[in-house]
Amino acid sequence: MTTVHGGLNDAELRAHGLARADVLDFSSNVNPLGASPLVCKAAAEADLSAYPDRDCLQLRETLAARLGIGVDHLLIGNGSTELIHLLARACLAPRDDCLIFTPTFGEYDEAVRLCGANVKTRPALEATGLSWSIPQAVREIETTRPALVFLCNPNNPTGAYLDRDAILRLSDALDPSGLLAVDTSYVPFADHAWNPTPLLGLGNIALLRSMTKDHGLAGVRLGYLAAQPPLIEKTRRLQPAWSVNAVAQALGVAALADDTHVAAARSVIRESKTYLYNQLAAIDLPTVPSATNFMLVRVGDASRVRQALLRRGIAVRDCTSFGLPAYIRIATRRLDECASLVAALRDLPLHD
Ligand SMILES: Cc1ncc(COP(=O)(O)O)c(C=O)c1O
Repeated sequence: MTTVHGGLNDAELRAHGLARADVLDFSSNVNPLGASPLVCKAAAEADLSAYPDRDCLQLRETLAARLGIGVDHLLIGNGSTELIHLLARACLAPRDDCLIFTPTFGEYDEAVRLCGANVKTRPALEATGLSWSIPQAVREIETTRPALVFLCNPNNPTGAYLDRDAILRLSDALDPSGLLAVDTSYVPFADHAWNPTPLLGLGNIALLRSMTKDHGLAGVRLGYLAAQPPLIEKTRRLQPAWSVNAVAQALGVAALADDTHVAAARSVIRESKTYLYNQLAAIDLPTVPSATNFMLVRVGDASRVRQALLRRGIAVRDCTSFGLPAYIRIATRRLDECASLVAALRDLPLHD
């Protein structure tokens, strides 16, 4: 696997003489409060010795009741990354075309290439504030007629968030056999979030959703795919048995019972985001307005800035692999932690 991701790398930390506990991690976009205490309690109580339910029935039932859809519309995965790969395999034959709205999460590209399919991109340009032109995207879908389209909404790393009308126009432009896969992993932290679930009724939309961001479960691995039952069944057949372990299933159920934890995280994010926008502007670091819990910051040489911050025990995402070498991406953490980041950035010799 060649895909670059945020998060901590132990070998790199060791080279800097750092342990994980020494590092403030702004490079992965997870809940700034970590996992909920109820989830930690469920972890201690999980049955470690029995095989997990292969169908993740209890978690699917819990999710189905919340979302207002049938259990047959849901597949649980070992992180949404597993589901991205399985969905690509379910939808793509070698040499099929897949359109990806870029810059974006790298696993879509990786998954498509592993299927032997062709990647086409619809890039968001810096000149237009890193937003996409929907009319252009519609024309592209109508002419290339991709078998699959990946759209991350809100998008990692830009924070762009398309409205329902834009998604309907993209869905409308597809061939009857085409599928629009919308990754909704950052909806729980979005400003003015809208509910994507009714889009499933269109029949040619599938929703991907990580549960590692809002519930702070990145180390556990959990996500789901919501789609029409035939596609769920086709994708499920590609999944290895017991892919989703018993602890992950139990923690998922416990996390869904604790809405107050995610709500508390949302209010931390709201406060920290405002702080970061203001403080970064005050030290002449331009930011890209984001609808969700992370933002791009234009620092000049992202690779150099990332290394300099890491030496100070702060991890940020260098966006070079997204084609944005002048930007870092920072997740919003607690206010005191954001103050440490701003202080470290203030000390660095920056500028394009
Ligand atoms: C947009 C997006 N989708 C999916 C994932 C993967 O999440 P998971 O931890 O569920 O595999 C990420 C992780 O960064 C992401 O940014």
